Amino acid sequence: MSTPQAIESLLTETRVFEPSQAFRARSKTVHCPDMATYRALYQRSMQDPAGFWAEMASHYSWSKPWSKVLEWECPDAKWFVGATTNISVNCIDRQIDAGLGDQVAIIWEGEPSTNDAGGHEVRRLTYADLKREVCTFANGLKSLGVKRGDVVTLYMGMVPELAIAMLACARIGAAHSVIFGGFAASAIVDRVQDANSSVIVTCDGAWRRGQVVPLKANVDEAVSRLTGVRHVVCLHRCGNDIKWNGGRDICWHDLVKGQSHECAPEAMDSEDLLFLLYTSGSTGKPKGIRHTIGGYMVFTATTARYTFNLVPGENQVFFCTADIGWVTGHSYVVYGILPNRVPTVMYEGAPNFPKEDRFWEMVERHKITHFYTAPTAIRAFMKWGDEHPKKHDLSSLIVLGTVGEPINPEAWIWYHEKIGSSHCPIVDTMWQTETGGHIITPLPGCTPTVPGSCTLPFFGIDAAIVNEQGEELPPNQGGLLVIRKPWPAMLRGIHGDRARYIETYWSKVPGMYVAGDGARRDERGYFWIMGRIDDVINVSGHRLGTMEVESALVSHDAVVEAAVVGMPHEIKGTGIAAFVTLAPTHQGVTGDALRKALCEHVTKEIGAIARPDMIRFTGALPKTRSGKIMRRLLRDIAAGKESSQDTTTLEDFSLLAKLRETDE
Ligand code: WTA
Repeated sequence: MSTPQAIESLLTETRVFEPSQAFRARSKTVHCPDMATYRALYQRSMQDPAGFWAEMASHYSWSKPWSKVLEWECPDAKWFVGATTNISVNCIDRQIDAGLGDQVAIIWEGEPSTNDAGGHEVRRLTYADLKREVCTFANGLKSLGVKRGDVVTLYMGMVPELAIAMLACARIGAAHSVIFGGFAASAIVDRVQDANSSVIVTCDGAWRRGQVVPLKANVDEAVSRLTGVRHVVCLHRCGNDIKWNGGRDICWHDLVKGQSHECAPEAMDSEDLLFLLYTSGSTGKPKGIRHTIGGYMVFTATTARYTFNLVPGENQVFFCTADIGWVTGHSYVVYGILPNRVPTVMYEGAPNFPKEDRFWEMVERHKITHFYTAPTAIRAFMKWGDEHPKKHDLSSLIVLGTVGEPINPEAWIWYHEKIGSSHCPIVDTMWQTETGGHIITPLPGCTPTVPGSCTLPFFGIDAAIVNEQGEELPPNQGGLLVIRKPWPAMLRGIHGDRARYIETYWSKVPGMYVAGDGARRDERGYFWIMGRIDDVINVSGHRLGTMEVESALVSHDAVVEAAVVGMPHEIKGTGIAAFVTLAPTHQGVTGDALRKALCEHVTKEIGAIARPDMIRFTGALPKTRSGKIMRRLLRDIAAGKESSQDTTTLEDFSLLAKLRETDE
């Protein structure tokens, strides 16, 4: 499998998969059973967004109704204006009030095998358990002085306490900022500082492929460089040695000891901040995407319900493999799933631990009905071999999902045949941290699918392909993916940087939200995402700014200048290629030792996801006469392509030939 070929086949893919009879036979309720219903609902959502979303919102509990569904003054949206609610109530109490308190809300599974027979540590939390845990921790946070409007930073592994901490923050009106546990200390420093967070919740460590990731040590290092952190709450999970700072550190268990099991939910304004989630953009600094309560709650629960056809009482079990450190985990492990009364599976560790069949073994053991993962994972499963899924009974599966990057048809077909027994619908869900939930996606049992296409917009999403003047382009012409109307879970800004919010999303085509992706629409109206149009690369479905990696590289003594671009990668989709020029002191000492040192440096500065796949040393970087690095050229070189780019503005032609050599 080579990615350029995969891209080629993506452009010519024509196979159409109609909704399977097997799916229809197994699902008693199909929320959107056919294309006529989809079209009618979509049209209604376009013509009367207020009426449509009021109806969707009426499925949830509000402590005070809205006076107006939407107030829109581009680029500022307010949804469910004047209403109050609490998302933790909609995730938990509403189910208890409906008499479902003893039903399972979260099925958590730890990574390590607990005995030689391969037994696993599993915790099942009912809605009643979840309420007790959330309330006691919420009271614990209050005892530390956390109050409505504060931002609490969560840097934890995939343990149930992470979901509990998020919901506890929501319960008392504090916002959370979850930092992915794979990020290094510097990433924590930037995010805690930007969010002005004075309480951090962490774990001693996190299990990953049998090893312990030292989360608490990373927090210690970060806090030593910060001034405003008052408390670090630490959950003991792995039992690894940690340093303890008496006045500042508190053990999770001590914090909740003796706390009341009840904590009255704060009545929050629909537009109060629910969370910040940092994501990469085209400049060095990650941006804190702001999501508010009401619209996000309604949109994530509604998309989850329709996109996965969630139906309570049908023994469904939903498993999204994403880490909660990313938006997919926020929306489709926690907030979008719990209100739908279907158990959500949280898995702590790696997909290939102890063996490559871990997920399939889990599907069989927990009778998972919905499996949602990323194309990069599917490509890894393919590489590991068909024997792993074959060993297990996957007949519980009903719907399969993908997210994070375009899926190459080869991986789609493999997923369809080997995991979905050729009858589970695949929902290729296109969305972003900024959109809060799915914006373009098939609906199972309804939308005919074509491998590689995320198909049609979700209700309320006025997606289009336009040129820079905002004119809609004819079928199959590539252009900018935009959204022309506000939707409930749209971001409400970049924390502390209004100018960047406007500049990034609203200035390229005035009046429209520009997603940052290039895309086209085919004759049937289906969307095909072509990839980012900015300096963001999508590595294994995770967004990274090339500038972030460049800044990490130049912070190493040996490096003077660095340019980072994406390159095709068999498993990751996009890998990281770095071109670096060296300081005089290091010239002549290039080679694998320095490459390794630079890779380790980047891992230390950002985290393992940013580790370059290729580093090429060069005497100079190709630049235009005005001094801009010619990234397109570097992309071609990294992909091993002869450049078709116009190089007439290139300052030094001889450089090109030199950069193409695999090594100096
Ligand atoms: C890409 C992840 C094609 C896209 C939820 C987007 C996709 C970026 C798909 C957002 C998909 C996500 N098909 N591309 N189904 N899903 N993308 O913020 O480039 O981590 O802009 O959100 O991932 O990444 P983010």
